[in-house]
Amino acid sequence: MPSIQIKGLQKRFGALSVIDGLDLDMADKEFTVLVGPSGCGKSTTLRMVAGLEDASGGEIWIGNREVSRLDPKDRDIAMVFQDYALYPHMDVARNMSFALRLARYPKAEIDARVTRVAELLSISHLLSRKPRELSGGQRQRVAMGRALVKDASVFLFDEPLSNLDAKLRSQMRAELALMRKRVEKNMIYVTHDQIEAMTLGDRIVVMHGGKIQQQGSPSDLYRRPANLFVAGFIGSPPMNVLRGELSEAGGRLCVRGSGFDLALPDQRGAALAGRRDRAVIVGLRPSSIRSGATQDGASSLSVNIRLAEYVGAHSVLIADCGGEAVTIEVNSESPFASEGAAQFWVEPESIHLFDPVTEAAI
Ligand SMILES: Nc1ncnc2c1ncn2[C@@H]1O[C@H](COP(=O)(O)OP(=O)(O)OP(=O)(O)O)[C@@H](O)[C@H]1O
Ligand SMILES: [Mg+2]
Repeated sequence: MPSIQIKGLQKRFGALSVIDGLDLDMADKEFTVLVGPSGCGKSTTLRMVAGLEDASGGEIWIGNREVSRLDPKDRDIAMVFQDYALYPHMDVARNMSFALRLARYPKAEIDARVTRVAELLSISHLLSRKPRELSGGQRQRVAMGRALVKDASVFLFDEPLSNLDAKLRSQMRAELALMRKRVEKNMIYVTHDQIEAMTLGDRIVVMHGGKIQQQGSPSDLYRRPANLFVAGFIGSPPMNVLRGELSEAGGRLCVRGSGFDLALPDQRGAALAGRRDRAVIVGLRPSSIRSGATQDGASSLSVNIRLAEYVGAHSVLIADCGGEAVTIEVNSESPFASEGAAQFWVEPESIHLFDPVTEAAI
């Protein structure tokens, strides 16, 4: 399987620039997820890779072939769209084998491929059913199967789970995660759902405003978001964002603001030296906020709890810290059923800092 390279890709619709110099390198057999808010250019990017949309500039390489100017059929690509349409009068096996029959593959080869892909997608028992006799999730799997039987070098998926209800979606997500370990193919998967991105991707590419904000493994993006946008987009509930100021007194490095004074790890001192007494944006994951006070009083986050949402194993506290909204995840066993003032602290290592002007991580 060849790798995929996108160099300086651009797309303009008239005066509107939608993709603005996108560079992407995908390793062989990598499952890459493009994720970002609605309208950020994910489908447009995918459609340019497929050849369904002309690029306004830049190059797309699959292996050692520049495909940017090739017809879709010559690009060696298979695509699954959001609104997959199965042929209603054909059973599952015939839906899946349609493209292979059209290309006049030998019958034995077609049967072998359909059998193998059906097993992969756990739809072997459905091969003789018609689409109307299937559930939404089963139809979705047939649509994927129809693409996976092909010989393509690259498989493209544009929000394939978006027509499914929440429960089916999470079930299909888990099945896809299992399936993709068994299918060793290059896959580019588009979604606006960060949980889908986190659970499926080897590599996640976060897009916003036609630009790549950051790319990396799910844990890279979660633990070291490159900027405020990625920090807020990846992780659920989203990261809390507070305005503060850096200070260093008596060798103690901390970040302070209205309602909080949090110690930072000593080793960050050198990197932050030039920012002493300057404004900074503080990012706190809801799950890294701990209840109670530190023994030495080194860190404190004073909040006013307005609401406790019981979710099961944990509860989500909706609170107020110095006038800014803060979300905190606590173990449901802990005593935060009610409203009112409470003390918390935050592990120094888990505090994120961002430049207030560029919004880049520091
Ligand atoms: N044919 C077109 N003509 C003009 N503008 C377009 C066209 N197709 C897409 N756009 C614009 O390009 C931008 C990116 O669209 P795109 O469909 O790639 O977004 P997306 O990231 O896939 O969003 P979603 O998550 O909603 O599917 C949007 O602002 C959209 O309005
Ligand atoms: Mg789209």
